[in-house]
Amino acid sequence: MKNTFGNHLQITLFGESHGPYIGAVLDGLAPGIKVDEDYIHHQLSLRRPSGKISTARVEKDPFQIISGVYQGKTTGTPLTIIIPNKEQKGEDYLTMERIARPGHADYTAYCKYHGFEDYHGGGHFSGRITAALVAAGAIVLTALKEKNILIGSHIASLGGIKDREFENEKEDIQSLNQKTFAVLDDTAAEKMMDIALEAAEQGDSVGGVLESCILGLEAGLGEPWFDTMEGMLAHALFSIPALKGVSFGDAFSMVDQRGSEYNDAFGIKEGNIVTLTNHNGGINGGITNGMPITFRCAVKPTPSIYKEQNSVDFINKKEHTLKIEGRHDPAIIHRARVVVDSMAAIVIYDMMAGRYGTDYFMGENE
Ligand SMILES: Cc1cc2nc3c(=O)[nH]c(=O)nc-3n(C[C@H](O)[C@H](O)[C@H](O)COP(=O)(O)O)c2cc1C
Repeated sequence: MKNTFGNHLQITLFGESHGPYIGAVLDGLAPGIKVDEDYIHHQLSLRRPSGKISTARVEKDPFQIISGVYQGKTTGTPLTIIIPNKEQKGEDYLTMERIARPGHADYTAYCKYHGFEDYHGGGHFSGRITAALVAAGAIVLTALKEKNILIGSHIASLGGIKDREFENEKEDIQSLNQKTFAVLDDTAAEKMMDIALEAAEQGDSVGGVLESCILGLEAGLGEPWFDTMEGMLAHALFSIPALKGVSFGDAFSMVDQRGSEYNDAFGIKEGNIVTLTNHNGGINGGITNGMPITFRCAVKPTPSIYKEQNSVDFINKKEHTLKIEGRHDPAIIHRARVVVDSMAAIVIYDMMAGRYGTDYFMGENE
């Protein structure tokens, strides 16, 4: 069982959807990093359900940092953030049957934890746990921004509607990081939301593709063979619930191209070595080449849907139909993007701390 990730910066996630708290521990942060609570709130607000394709539940995240911060800056000792859960579970009188939600982790969690798992609201597999990841990620993103490293993602496609591509990456990332529905072309955003609403009316849900960009990284970062930049990012990103595919650069659109089309030719720009295109997504041989890292994540449709589905009572091994009650949004993708940014930030920080040492991110001692 592994709820900790990272080599030089480690994140541990804990909690269950209907337990008293969820939270994160960050171990290995440099001392002196500014902890901007307003920015943490902002990032959490991007993950919370909001806008016309979300249910009206009010899910405030009044986080508390209970260790590792003194006078607004990291101390360098383990930093623990906790977020209380509003919905706590009542006593169970009857656990004689359990119907698996198709696409969710109810059945696999039971297989692994043998019925000892707290399954309420998806337990440890609830999307709720990602709130703790986003709160922790906000601190790491702040440290990266001090080194002029920016991370941002947009919904590249949803229901066949495509967003425009990144043009001016820095401006695009800055604008995306203010949007709750992160799409660069507002007309495309409206169409995507209409498709999600149409699915909701039919008791159904939709998925899509996120495209992310990491800007400002220098060449030379990555630890072949096994802790390559792609390897570390993919490992971390695949931990995000509902994320089912990761690709780098133009990975899957390249398969029918020739080398002469896909290769990124080199050039010199303002005295720096650059590539003239970025089909490889800023990584060669598992090592950054100084161009923006670009990657795409496939996010699946919300598994909890209102349509009736075939399932089983896995305690009594009986077939059962399932009609899910409760509040579930018809899409996860718009909320998952800040989770992707947070996870990517933790990987980049980890790899930079490995190369330059923990104190590389240390802030000024005023
Ligand atoms: C931000 C976020 C919110 C989520 N919210 C829900 C939800 O409301 N209902 C649901 O069924 N799944 C939700 N999920 C997805 C499930 O947690 C996930 O599909 C489940 O744990 C199974 O894991 P897998 O999809 O990676 O196989 C959410 C995921 C994320 C990242």
